[in-house]
Amino acid sequence: MPTNWQVKITELFKAETGETYTETTFRMLGIPEWYGNKILIDESKYPSPNSLMGVMWCKPLLEDRIRIVALVIDSEVQCNNHGSNAVTEVINSSKLRGLNHIQLEVRKSNLRAQNFYSRHGLKIEHTMKNYYSNEDGYMMSGTLHRD
Ligand SMILES: CC(C)(COP(=O)(O)OP(=O)(O)OC[C@H]1O[C@@H](n2cnc3c(N)ncnc32)[C@H](O)[C@@H]1OP(=O)(O)O)[C@@H](O)C(=O)NCCC(=O)NCCS
Repeated sequence: MPTNWQVKITELFKAETGETYTETTFRMLGIPEWYGNKILIDESKYPSPNSLMGVMWCKPLLEDRIRIVALVIDSEVQCNNHGSNAVTEVINSSKLRGLNHIQLEVRKSNLRAQNFYSRHGLKIEHTMKNYYSNEDGYMMSGTLHRD
């Protein structure tokens, strides 16, 4: 990824989640190149890195799971269903590939994200003590039902 795009992603995560993503963080996340990653681009600003309005990164987990590692939408364009569209697309693509579960971690204090994921069929499974540097986390998961 070009450095100026990486800087923009770091700014987006810092602004919307408070998390600091360094180059090491990006590398350690080990996100594969696959259908589970999406970026939201404002075409009117492309190819500037400022055109980047959202990111979703996922990873495969065990035999039949997908894990959402990061999801962020710029506050300027939140509440426009972009987050929902990204989650719905990844759920549908995962079902088609025969995956059975989706899971993620979320801060205990991030009620908005918990509600958002609940609307997409995920439930809080358990508390992860001190998962974040200053806070507990919840593991949320859902079953990917075949239609
Ligand atoms: C959580 C997040 C990804 C949701 O993305 P989004 O694009 O805003 O999601 P959607 O527009 O699909 O739905 C979000 C909200 O918009 C509302 N909404 C969607 N379309 C709407 C419409 N046409 N009119 C009114 N409200 C609408 C939904 O009810 C929902 O309500 P909420 O305020 O309780 O969340 C986004 O808020 C975000 O980036 N938050 C900060 C980072 C974060 O917490 N990430 C998750 C960490 S695990």
